[in-house]
Amino acid sequence: MGVKIATRYTVAVLATLAATAIWAGCSHRAAEVQPAQQVTEAPLDPADAAIDPARWGKLYPVHYQQWKLTSEPTPAGLSKYKRGYDVGEERRDKLDEYPFLALLYNGWGFGAEYNEPRGHYYMVQDQLEVDPGRIKAGGACLTCKTPYAPKLAREMGLAYFSTPYKEVLARLPKANQTLGVACIDCHDNRGMALRISRGFTLGKALREIGLDQDKLTRDQKRTFVCAQCHVTYMIPKDKEMHSTDVVFPWAGSSEGHITIENIIKQIKSSPSHGEWVQAVTGFKLAFIRHPEYEFYSNQSPHYLAGVTCADCHMPMMISNNEELTDHRIMSPLKGSMSACAACHSETPAQLRQKVIGIQDRFIDRYLKTGYTVATDAKLFEMANKAAAAGKQIDRELYEMAREHYEQAFYRLIFLGAENSTGFHNPAEAMRVIEDASSHAAGADMHLRQLLAKAGERVPDKVDLELAKYTNNRGTKKLQFKKEHEILPPTLVK
Ligand code: HEC
Ligand code: HEC
Ligand code: HEC
Ligand code: HEC
Repeated sequence: MGVKIATRYTVAVLATLAATAIWAGCSHRAAEVQPAQQVTEAPLDPADAAIDPARWGKLYPVHYQQWKLTSEPTPAGLSKYKRGYDVGEERRDKLDEYPFLALLYNGWGFGAEYNEPRGHYYMVQDQLEVDPGRIKAGGACLTCKTPYAPKLAREMGLAYFSTPYKEVLARLPKANQTLGVACIDCHDNRGMALRISRGFTLGKALREIGLDQDKLTRDQKRTFVCAQCHVTYMIPKDKEMHSTDVVFPWAGSSEGHITIENIIKQIKSSPSHGEWVQAVTGFKLAFIRHPEYEFYSNQSPHYLAGVTCADCHMPMMISNNEELTDHRIMSPLKGSMSACAACHSETPAQLRQKVIGIQDRFIDRYLKTGYTVATDAKLFEMANKAAAAGKQIDRELYEMAREHYEQAFYRLIFLGAENSTGFHNPAEAMRVIEDASSHAAGADMHLRQLLAKAGERVPDKVDLELAKYTNNRGTKKLQFKKEHEILPPTLVK
């Protein structure tokens, strides 16, 4: 199947990249030879200067230039599902791509506008541009966005999480207010080693899975610098619905085994995790966001082969005869896929097709399950209406249906919020979507039974009234863009 022996695999990549390289067989050599002494004496220390990447750029112009390239649109036509910001194309909103999400998220910010991600450069800018419903939680929303987050949390304490977003942003130096992930987020400015800057979120969570942020190996850090943000989290609320913290639901899990089952257990363990009310069902629910680290590290083939996030998303590149880590972080499908050539002997085109094949299979199941869960939501709406009209509703059946529904819903949104469209862990994606599907069927069965008992007639095919949810969304009154809808891939010819 084209996987080479995975001993020191980067040897192969670099051989293909530059025959000139004197390569000692270690993928990370470039980082080892970086001029640490230059950094210590550099004026990077005063708090704001250390945060401003332009200052670092004076010492590392190529890294800085690549980092800045995350502001550019990415090459079009290479990725099938991740088109957050491609050359010559319109940005994609998940609510247009997957209309059932507009129904399920109706009732809060995510149901108004939920764009596919784009380059790191835009992370704060995008929060300012997106529907304002999305930043209601307050300063908490800046936690995986601004490099000032650790400082803000330190200085403001509890108030950081609940103070209105724009007020917190206004505390930052004007010139850096919309700065996204910066050098300081991943590097120690003394010596350039990788480091975790978000002790107040990831540091805490690492302890839950038996790790210490100060004792991570270099390879672990090549994944955990990303896991500062590419993880799911909860924003627990007090009685007045003010945000009180940002917590990763990792309690009870261990490294390499943060399962969706445990995540659901954690989010259901306290009513303070309810962040929003789903309009169609009236249920107060928690939320799951971009769980790249959890999903990937749960025994995926690449994780087991020791591949880190940086291995695939920050391959080595050559500039002026020097090898360095490419800081233009993006979808590997949109580049030369040199990172993959380390272990895979296929051509980039063949390998890209394999990735898309995996994603197609996942999307097929994801779409079917998404519409089943959306149908459940509409059946709850009918049951609630019947109850309001004085009909007798079997509470036991209702509660059983609700439990199945939540189990299906959280699995579905876990996979939908994960940004690789199933690729990071193909077998796990199939396992989780199958479970979501059977829970959704369980809810459907109980709901139909209780509606029948209440004397309601339920058609086989429930009208989802999608136009109601996909149009006039949020304060911008966004309209459904049918041309962006992702249709079931043709798996059978
Ligand atoms: C400080 C938080 C943070 C860190 C650290 C971080 N990311 Fe991101 N990343 C984000 C956010 C937020 C977005 C979405 C930005 C947007 O859409 O405005 C994103 C987007 C991306 C994208 C999509 C880019 C595109 O062109 O569409 C990739 C790929 C990615 N990150 C990979 C990584 C990898 C790999 C690492 C670690 C080496 C990493 N990120 C570290 C927050 C972070
Ligand atoms: C084996 C290689 C590999 C590893 C390891 C890997 N990824 Fe990915 N990643 C991919 C591929 C391939 C895609 C799909 C891109 C596409 O469909 O365009 C992807 C997609 C993504 C995206 C969405 C990109 C976009 O353009 O929107 C993000 C974000 C991301 N990965 C982050 C991570 C993080 C964080 C880790 C570590 C926890 C990680 N990846 C580990 C290969 C990898
Ligand atoms: C999202 C995390 C992240 C950000 C942000 C980031 N880097 Fe890096 N950087 C890495 C990783 C991962 C490596 C590989 C280090 C290793 O393997 O030890 C690296 C390596 C380096 C190296 C060592 C040489 C090399 O190329 O491997 C330098 C120098 C460097 N980065 C400079 C910068 C500068 C300057 C900035 C800001 C403009 C920056 N980095 C921003 C993650 C990041
Ligand atoms: C460190 C080596 C290594 C790197 C780097 C690597 N892979 Fe893999 N890849 C593997 C291994 C090992 C497997 C699992 C093989 C198995 O279980 O049979 C695998 C499996 C796969 C599969 C499924 C194989 C199949 O034939 O169905 C795909 C697709 C894939 N990798 C794509 C990629 C892409 C794309 C990249 C770069 C973004 C990449 N890999 C980087 C080692 C690697």
